Formats: sequence, structure tokens, C-alpha cells
Amino acid sequence: MDLSPPPPSAQARPLVVLGLESSCDESAAAVIRRHGDGRIEVLSDVVLGQEAAHAPFGGVVPEIAARAHAEAMDGLARDALQSASLTLANMDGIAATSGPGLIGGVMAALMTAKGLALGSGKPLIAVNHLEGHALSPRLVEPLAYPWLLLLVSGGHTQLISVEDFGVYRRLGSTLDDAAGEAFDKTAKVMGLGFPGGPAVERAAATGVPGRFDLPAPLQRRAGCDFSFAGLKTAVREAWDGLHEPGEQDRADLAAAAQSAIAAHLAKRTERAMTVFAEAFPHEARPLPLVVAGGVAANATVRDALRTAAERQGFRLIHPPSKWCTDNAAMIALAGAEHLARGETNALDVPARARWPLDADAATLSPVIGAGRKGPKA
Ligand code: KG4
Ligand code: ZN
Repeated sequence: MDLSPPPPSAQARPLVVLGLESSCDESAAAVIRRHGDGRIEVLSDVVLGQEAAHAPFGGVVPEIAARAHAEAMDGLARDALQSASLTLANMDGIAATSGPGLIGGVMAALMTAKGLALGSGKPLIAVNHLEGHALSPRLVEPLAYPWLLLLVSGGHTQLISVEDFGVYRRLGSTLDDAAGEAFDKTAKVMGLGFPGGPAVERAAATGVPGRFDLPAPLQRRAGCDFSFAGLKTAVREAWDGLHEPGEQDRADLAAAAQSAIAAHLAKRTERAMTVFAEAFPHEARPLPLVVAGGVAANATVRDALRTAAERQGFRLIHPPSKWCTDNAAMIALAGAEHLARGETNALDVPARARWPLDADAATLSPVIGAGRKGPKA
């Protein structure tokens, strides 16, 4: 990949970066060190979830999330610095998610980062949340590009070919609901509580998946996109069709929904593996398939992906769940990578509700874009 090389002085020097995240329902702050060889060390990482606040509503309520983030962000930034035994003066830059996500939430981390950057005179780096997820396996191991990423969370279901830093190609994404929403809505229909994924997995443990015949989505559609809306309706209809449903009915339907979601994810990901393998015929095998996002915690989903990966000559990499779900270490990591390349942002950089990763990459890299220097220039 012919990206222009980073400035050697910046590249060789270790960089310490504070990262802030607030785009969905986790408020988080972390400090990482990026060594000159690109190795990442997480010095601190604090997360404050909001599950209890949203549980009565069966899903994330944007206004509640925004208020909770705004209240938490300052304290979390301080905690992250303290637990790394560092101060703002030791930071080389301050990174914050600036999109995509719930706009009121995104603004909390971004505004806090702007305030800290202004007060300390340190550079600000506005990070695409999806780029954080895309790079997250490097929090665990110095994985070499390229890799294929399946991001499956409550907000996103995407297959991204991570070809180099700043070069991301989306191979597929959901046409309607995210995979996490499919779990959450299944749980809601059956009164299993929020967040739904873990509740469905627990209920499914004693269920028989074959009892309910749920449809396999997008059977006749080529490509690697996903769809979960039909499954959601089928689960509701199956549930409504039961007369005074009991525990076993709940377990059986949870098991059926879980295996239908897992099978669909594995099937479309298998197609993406074929596309990816063809694009990189000379890369060493097995090729890496990274799965990230809250749904990656599901054992049935992971087993289905592992089987598909083995069939296609891929190695499944599942980072520990604290790096799979929303966290600030991945934002600090992405920020440090930009900083190492001299890419920082002005203090008037806006929060963005929508910010596709591949469109951004197209403007960042003259190799695959229209020759513009990109939004960070
Ligand atoms: O990545 P994440 O923590 O937050 C964002 O959505 O950004 O993902 C949360 C989603 C929720 O929809 C939740 O139900 C789902 O991940 N999830 C699971 C499991 N644990 C969390 N889904 C299936 N099985 C699980 N064990
Ligand atoms: Zn996320």
C-alpha cells in the first residue's frame, strides 16, 4: 500500500495519548503509550456503563445517555490520568471520538477533549469511533495489516477490510437492524430484560433451537450485507403464536433466534472472507479475521464464525471483551496513530452523527481517493 510514510521523528518517539469515548452508552477514558515500533501499551482504562439508567426503557435513550456522559467525562479523564500516574502535561495529545454516534453523547467527549486541549496546549485528535474498533486488535498484539474485521455491536454490523492504517474498505453492512438489536429485540419480545444479548444467551442454554423454524435472511442476495428485521418479526410472530408461553418456550425461541443470528453472521462473513482472500493472494495464511463488538461475547456466534474461518483458511481473533466493546483505549490508539503521522485537528472540529469509515479513508488517501489531502490536512 503506497501511503506516504509518517514523519520519521514523530514515528520513532514514544507517544502518550489520553483518549475519551462517549458515542453510545459507555463513558470511557484511557491513557495509552504508542512505542516507536508501533507497539501499544495501555496505561489506564476506565469505563462507566449506563445499563441501569436505560434498562427500564429496554434500549438506549439518547437524552439520558447524553446527560450521563456530560456528567461523567471530566471525572473519568481525571481518573484515567491518575491511574496511569500521569498528568495532562505528560500527554502528547488528547483524542476523542467525534463520530459516528448519538450526537448528544459524542459532544460530551469531544467538548471535554477540546477543553483539555485548549487548557494544556496539547494537540486535539478527532477520532472516528469505527476506526477505533478497526484498530482495536492492536491493543492486544502487534497484528500486521491487512485483516478482515467483523464489527457486531448494538449500533453496528459491518465487515471491514482493514488494509493499512487509513485504508478501510467496507465489504458489507446491515440493511436494517444491527445484530445486537436483533438480540435486544428478541429479549424484549420475550420479556427477558435489557441488555438483551446476555439474557438471550442465558435463556438459550436450556433451549432446543430446532423447535422454531426461523427464516434465513438474504438467501438470494449476493454480497456480504446483513439483514435482521425479518428475523425480529419472525420471533415476534412465533412468540405471539404461543398459548401462555412458559420457561421452555422462552428457552427454545431464544435458542432458535440465537442460532439464526449466528448462522446469518457466519454465512455473510464467509463470503467476505472469500473476497478478502482474493484481494490478498500473497499474504501469509491463515489470514486474520477479527471479531469485535458486544455480540462477539456470544459463544454460539463465535463458534459459528470459528467454523467458517477454519473452512476458509482464516484465523479467528477475538480480543478480550473489554477491548471488543466500546472503550477509550481504542480511541487513544487511533489518535496516537494519527498523531504519529502529524495529523491533528483544529479546536472547531465538529461532532458528527454520521461518519462512514470508508468514505473518510477515500479522502484521506490519494492512492484510492480523488487526490485531496483529506479532512485532517
Ligand atoms: O459493543 P457494545 O457493548 O455497544 C455498542 O452497541 O456500541 O454492544 C452491545 C450489544 C447489545 O446489543 C448487547 O445485547 C449485545 O451487544 N451483546 C450480546 C452479548 N453481550 C452483549 N449479544 C449476544 N450475546 C451476548 N452474550
Ligand atoms: Zn462501538
